[in-house]
Order: sequence, then structure tokens, then C-alpha cells
Amino acid sequence: MNSKSVAGFSKLNKIQKIAWLKEQFDDQNEDLHDILSSFWLNDEPMQKVVDGFSENTVSNFVMPYGLAPNFLIDGEIFCVPMVIEESSVVAAASSAAKYWMDRGGFKTQILGTSKIGQVHFKWFGNPSLIVQLFPEIKHALIQNASPITENMVKRGGGVTDIELIDFTKDIEGLYQLRVHFETCDSMGANFINSTLENFANTLEDFFVDHPSVNDKDRDVDIIMSILSNYTPQCVVRAEVSCKVNELGTFANGMMAEQLAEKFKTAVQIAHIDPYRATTHNKGIFNGIDAVILATGNDFRATEAAGHTYAAKDGIYKSLSHCEIKDGIFRFWLDIPLAIGTVGGLTSLHPLAKKTLEILGNPSAEKLMRIIASVGLAQNFAALRSLVTTGIQQGHMKMHIMNILNHLQANDSEVDQTLSYFADKTVSFSAVRDFIAKIRIN
Ligand code: MEV
Repeated sequence: MNSKSVAGFSKLNKIQKIAWLKEQFDDQNEDLHDILSSFWLNDEPMQKVVDGFSENTVSNFVMPYGLAPNFLIDGEIFCVPMVIEESSVVAAASSAAKYWMDRGGFKTQILGTSKIGQVHFKWFGNPSLIVQLFPEIKHALIQNASPITENMVKRGGGVTDIELIDFTKDIEGLYQLRVHFETCDSMGANFINSTLENFANTLEDFFVDHPSVNDKDRDVDIIMSILSNYTPQCVVRAEVSCKVNELGTFANGMMAEQLAEKFKTAVQIAHIDPYRATTHNKGIFNGIDAVILATGNDFRATEAAGHTYAAKDGIYKSLSHCEIKDGIFRFWLDIPLAIGTVGGLTSLHPLAKKTLEILGNPSAEKLMRIIASVGLAQNFAALRSLVTTGIQQGHMKMHIMNILNHLQANDSEVDQTLSYFADKTVSFSAVRDFIAKIRIN
């Protein structure tokens, strides 16, 4: 459907917006208002809060909020909330969590927490002069930004370094301030961007009256100031390991040694082939995004950082690694996670707030550890299925419920279908035919 153009749409209230949308459909979509309003929250003040997150909101989009229990991480047990629509993700995470709980659990390590922001600018004076003046520039930047940074500094964070990067060989006159930040328990986007914009102002002023600068070089052209979502120094490692012979036996009678070798090969494939690496990492993000969403963090930022990190060696590859050495199977994931447990949606969104409570109100570092462990568990579960039974068995078992819901099966039909398909291949047509048959009888 094409809609007509509209002026002043944002000024309309919710009901007027829906009425306008309905008009675009001629006679169809009679139920548009009913459907959209059926997802409004009964709690009006809460609905107002949710509406405030975005613009032109007319309804809420519901996603399943599930729990993956039995995550033993650094000696503590977590029940991890996950928001995801894909069937079998939560089941797979829970199964891998339980499996590793019996083998010592997940061990994690924070490899860094530093984030990056950039001020891109052009200046056409002598390049050696800006290098020579840089310590003075740095001092002015820090000094002038102190009203913005002082609170973060009190909390133990702030600006930790400022570099001058010369891009003049690529683009005439182009430089960058590359600023390193610690943002404690917040993701820090607003803090970083405000500081950078303040830096940009200082930079402009610096050259205006500096005695060493020629009059013709007083102009600084600020191109833009913004954080970088690539955070290769804000990285967490999650790891599992056990003796190969403690891996157990697997579906189709596969023994531990064979599983370990096949599993390692599966990871190696994702290190040499970007086609496989993309799917492999997608499986990791099934788990990561689900917890990022449940905690009100920014899944686009997390994905962007993760994929750039996966390509840091010049070829897109697996974010996880596997080795078998001296009889020990070791599987680990290094992942950049620039996340927060204070600020943003984390305290505004009622369920994000609850998620953090369920996780024991973790610090940002602890949440990094939890999320990386879920990503690793998800990857483990996917590869374990792929190298043993194949993925469809588990997927279709979960998917059967979606099919049954679609066919509006009653409880007895659900029971009969589940028991009939326990040892059969599930497909939409097979389930539909089976239901049709039992409905006739
Ligand atoms: C499906 O959402 C994710 C998998 O494709 C991941 C993988 O292949 O590793 C199962």
C-alpha cells in the first residue's frame, strides 16, 4: 500500500494517527484501531513512558521474554532473561548452560573497558605545527570540558587519553581527535558525545587567537563529533573448558573425542570462510542480542561493534575459538560489549529494570561477563547440534508449537501431534495434514 503524504503528523494524537493510517487503506483494515490498541498497556502512566522512547508511537510490538536458568558464571549462578522471537534459542541457551554447569561453568575475563569518540576536522596549516601545539591543545580540551566530565571523573571514569590522527594523506587537511573514555556503569553515549562537541568548540577557539598560528590558518573546519561504536578495547572473554573425555556422549552415539574434533573443525571453518563465519556469528548474536534487548541496551551498537571486530584481521571470521590441547577441550569467545547498567533505557523500561534486578543489579562489567557467556553458550549449542543431529531436529520441535498455534489446535490435538511427531520429521504441511486427519476422525 502507498500512503499519501502528510503534514504535521507528529502533532496528531495516537488515535488521530491511527485514523489517518486507516484512511490510507480505503475499505480494508477495519480492525486496524482494534489491533493496535489491543497492545496498549492498561497502565496508562507506563504507556506514556514507553511512548516517550520514540516518536509517532501508535502501539507496542510484543516479543517473547524468556528465562535461561543454570548459567554458572565465575562461580555464581544466574537465570538470564532473554528477549527473542526465534524458537529454540532460549531452549538451546538453557541446555548449554546446564551442560557447562556440570563441567565447571563459564569463566570470564574483562580484557578492557575503554571506549572511543572522534572529532573529525580540517585544518590547512603546517602539519608539524599542530603536532607541536598538541600538548597545549590537549590541556585546553580537558580544562574546558571539566564541567561536563567532573561527575564521571568522580565516579572513576572520564577522558583517559586524546590522540591526534593525521588523515591528510587520504583527505586534504583532515585530522581526527581520537578520544579514549571510561564511562563506568553507563554505556556513556550522551556523555561521550557531549564531551566531543565541547572539544570541537575548544578546538575552534584555540586557533583563533593563538600567537604561533598565522592569520591565514585560524579557521578550523569541524566536520563532525561522534562516538565510535567500534570498541576493540572494550572487550570481554568468556570461556568453557573440560577434559575431552568429560564431554560425554552425544546424539547418534557420537563419542567425546569425535565430537571435540568435529566441533573444533566447525569453528576452524568459521575462521577461514566468511560465508560460514557470518552464520556462526549470527548464532552467537542470537544469545547476545536477546540479553542486550532484555536489559534495554543498544543491540545495533553491539552488532556493529561485533561484526567490525570479527573483521579486524582483514577477513571476516569467527568471534569464537576452539582448541584441543593436552586432552583439554577449550572453547572461548572474545566480544566487544559497550553496554550500561545505569542510564538510558536500563532504568526507564520497566522490564529492562526487572531484568537487571533478576541478574542481581550487576555492574556493567558483570553484565559484559553474563552476556558473553550467553553468546558462547548459544554458539556451543548450535555447533553441538550441527555436528551431531543437524539443526532442524531441535528447530522444528520448537517450531511445531508455532504451527499448532497457527492451526488453532486445541489441547488434545497438541498432545496427539507432539507424540506423533516425537520421532518424525516436522514440516508445516505434515503437521497440517495430521491435524486435518485427526479432526475428521
Ligand atoms: C540460527 O538462528 C543460528 C545457527 O544457524 C547458527 C549456526 O549455524 O552456527 C544455527
